[in-house]
Amino acid sequence: MRLEPLFRRTLYLAFAVLFITGAAWLLADARKDGASGEGWQTAAANLLMIHGGAAMATLLLLGALVPLHVRRGWRARRNRIMGVTMVSLNAALILTAFGLYYLGSETLRPWASDLHIAAGLALPVLLVVHILTGRRSR
Ligand code: HEM
Ligand code: HEM
Repeated sequence: MRLEPLFRRTLYLAFAVLFITGAAWLLADARKDGASGEGWQTAAANLLMIHGGAAMATLLLLGALVPLHVRRGWRARRNRIMGVTMVSLNAALILTAFGLYYLGSETLRPWASDLHIAAGLALPVLLVVHILTGRRSR
């Protein structure tokens, strides 16, 4: 059930890069109309590029997590509530990220953005709770 140390660290690194670049983008985006707006705009574009790259790596890791962790946890009936919560949260992040790319509509895109940001900001907290409840289920 426990993840191999290298895989676990890589997963933590990928989530950390996603969270940091996402949160930093929010700060840069809020400053883009100010005095040094051009610098913030460049920073925001670079942050999203790193964010998108990290997202691709994360999808790879999440795919590997299904047979290694999700199916095993489900079969062992361990941590199912927080397990389903993690799967739903990651599914929400992926679906809203798809929306950020492809929803042209001016009403739907802001929705995808808000939901993506809310799910992204909730991720570290829910991941920590997931790990704690998971350990307790041993
Ligand atoms: C995208 C979904 C998920 C992610 C990202 C995720 C991530 C993690 C991580 C990083 C750990 C700590 C691993 C370690 O200490 O080696 C963990 C622990 C755990 N997870 Fe998940 N998990 C997910 C889904 C699930 C599901 C669906 C279940 C069960 C149905 C589950 C059950 C557990 C259990 C039981 C532990 C504790 C293992 C132990 O320390 O003995 N997880 N999870
Ligand atoms: C599996 C996890 C995630 C995936 C697959 C993902 C993917 C993406 C993608 C593809 C974009 C669009 C990039 C672009 O327009 O060039 C994006 C934007 C964004 N992501 Fe994530 N992301 C994830 C997690 C997170 C997390 C943890 C945060 C934390 C705050 C976050 C915050 C943001 C923000 C603020 C944006 C910009 C929103 C906007 O343009 O309105 N994401 N993400």
